[in-house]
Amino acid sequence: MCGIFGYINYLTERDRRYIIETLVNGLSRLEYRGYDSAGLAVDGDKKNEVFAFKEVGKVAKLKELIASESPDMDKVFDNHAGIAHTRWATHGPPSRVNCHPHRSDPKWQFAVVHNGIITNYKELKALLQGKGFKFETETDTEAIAKLAKYIYDQHPSIDFTTLVKAVIKELQGAFGLLLKSVHFPGEVVAARKGSPLVVGVRTAKKMKVDFVDVEFNEDGAALPAEQASQNVALKKQPMGASLGSNLLAPPDKSLLHRSQSRAFLSDDGMPQPAEFFLSSDPSAIVEHTKKVLYLEDDDIAHIHEGQLNIHRLSKTDGTSNVRAIQTLEIELQEIMKGRFDHFMQKEIFEQPESVVNAMRGRLNVEDKTVMLGGLRQYISTIRRCRRLIFIACGTSFHSCMAVRGAFEELTDIPISVELASDFLDRQAPVFRDDTCVFVSQSGETADSLMALRYCLERGALTVGIVNVVGSSISLMTHCGVHINAGPEIGVASTKAYTSQFVCMIMFALSLSEDRASKHQRRLDIMDGLGKIPQQFTEILKMDQEIKELCLKFKDQKSMLLLGRGAQHATALEGALKIKEISYLHCEAVMSGELKHGVLALVDENLPIVMILTRDDIFSKSLNAYQQVIARKGRPIVICNTGDEEFPGEKTDKIEVPHTVDVLQGLLNVIPLQLMAYWLAVAEGLNVDFPRNLAKSVTVE
Ligand code: F6R
Repeated sequence: MCGIFGYINYLTERDRRYIIETLVNGLSRLEYRGYDSAGLAVDGDKKNEVFAFKEVGKVAKLKELIASESPDMDKVFDNHAGIAHTRWATHGPPSRVNCHPHRSDPKWQFAVVHNGIITNYKELKALLQGKGFKFETETDTEAIAKLAKYIYDQHPSIDFTTLVKAVIKELQGAFGLLLKSVHFPGEVVAARKGSPLVVGVRTAKKMKVDFVDVEFNEDGAALPAEQASQNVALKKQPMGASLGSNLLAPPDKSLLHRSQSRAFLSDDGMPQPAEFFLSSDPSAIVEHTKKVLYLEDDDIAHIHEGQLNIHRLSKTDGTSNVRAIQTLEIELQEIMKGRFDHFMQKEIFEQPESVVNAMRGRLNVEDKTVMLGGLRQYISTIRRCRRLIFIACGTSFHSCMAVRGAFEELTDIPISVELASDFLDRQAPVFRDDTCVFVSQSGETADSLMALRYCLERGALTVGIVNVVGSSISLMTHCGVHINAGPEIGVASTKAYTSQFVCMIMFALSLSEDRASKHQRRLDIMDGLGKIPQQFTEILKMDQEIKELCLKFKDQKSMLLLGRGAQHATALEGALKIKEISYLHCEAVMSGELKHGVLALVDENLPIVMILTRDDIFSKSLNAYQQVIARKGRPIVICNTGDEEFPGEKTDKIEVPHTVDVLQGLLNVIPLQLMAYWLAVAEGLNVDFPRNLAKSVTVE
């Protein structure tokens, strides 16, 4: 779980200052993915020389280091390839040596940046050590650079793509990779399996992109179509270059016979000045270009001489290697903080708008209709499924918990909500007539992705509820809904939660469309959804009030957050927000369980927040309130506006508007998000980059 960024310019005069600034800026945008250390590799002043800069800490530290080492910033390159990385440590603690890029040897013949995890790195390392390689880091990634050099040394005439193919055939686990080499100046090869990679393209002239499927013979000449099809048979040969078996054997011919998609970047098919941006995430690309291609698993993208060629690891897997150029819909200001101090704060305040974007074109409040285009084809199959299993992690898991009751009530389909890791640990039974719903902001969370593969193997229908367009979960599921929350940069998820919630409620409404008995209930919920954006705006006006309330928690070490029914999910989500950014231990308790043990903690000192908005089980929730009061507890209550049950002089209150019970959690979570935010700010903590965490968890 890291951010990788690459910048390649061709026939464009760019000085080193520009190249380094582009790489560093790219890393700053990706910093939310990991911020333990950062590094980059660019060409040196002499041929075959590489300058690498690595620093522990955030990207700003790397910038300072580069400034202090003052390389010749005015040196101009017509053709140059640079790669960069921001790290969330998995193998080896954050340190300069463990920081990417990693190298094959002290001369940097091969440099690599990697996002993901190589599960067989110990075996690779032992084997390469046996061949005389000296490892200098504790990372899994270093084995990739060394393996590249090892294969290159055996086959010095190998081309870069073929070499990288041979390398990745030996890798197990997940990776998004960028490699550069002194043997292939100005070129970068990118590969992905399980970790996202997007390529942005900028050209001076209007770009004509013409992807064609081309196959090559051993000499590198393109084959005519008739011969190309025969060539497929050749590719069916096993590669046979398995490390430790016959890597020393002559290169397998099937490696040389490769198919590719080629992007010609000028009208006459000749290369023209071009710049390429490779990134884990489009947010680092949008300031340069909106024209992007999303790579898929087993794609190998080779950028050289102003061209982008996409190869498949195996031509026989049936996946086309033609990737459409897409236009990014995000705007630069969406990934800037604007008038806010932190991304998290900005994202909390964006919610009146982000939920509108989730509903736009889908919910018609006037006509009382819901249409989720991405599910249309499958909706009747889902209605007939034997079970709906929601699978997610963290905040996304909480959003599933929050809507479970609504699905049960509206659809009468048995619902289970699973933490992806636990679901996999149990190897839970899944059947062909199950529908498995994967909810994820990033669409890249490793646990959720593995669970998705598991369900696909068992023949279940899979649905994605995802924010990031082009992410693995959105590509791999049969159908789905994009929540359209826009880029979420703050590590603590806020607007994605409310947009997931809204999209899943619309999903439940779609599933119950044919149920006459639910007609009025559905109308009420749709009506309620239509009012949510305005109600969010109302609640956000309490920002300063909540900030002051938080002062009560100053210097506390622990707190309780109580909720019942659907509000237990709200409590879980609020407690996670508070823990992850303010580092205050906060436990969410189902109010009905209070008397079964947790009550022992309650006294006049323990900070307690109770969610007590009106619903069918309000009287039961009140029992917990009375139990707390009887033990001299002084809870802060989240209740509906004007609720006289809680006289203001006795209780601190946060009053939120009333809505339909199944939507109340949407409103109740906002004060808790604000509370988490202000608690963290009061402690002077780094709200957007909480310690030990990263935005997208691409390791198991
Ligand atoms: C908490 C948070 C995490 C994520 C979790 C799943 O604020 O952001 O708990 O919700 O890592 O991530 P996604 O939704 O990207 O699958």
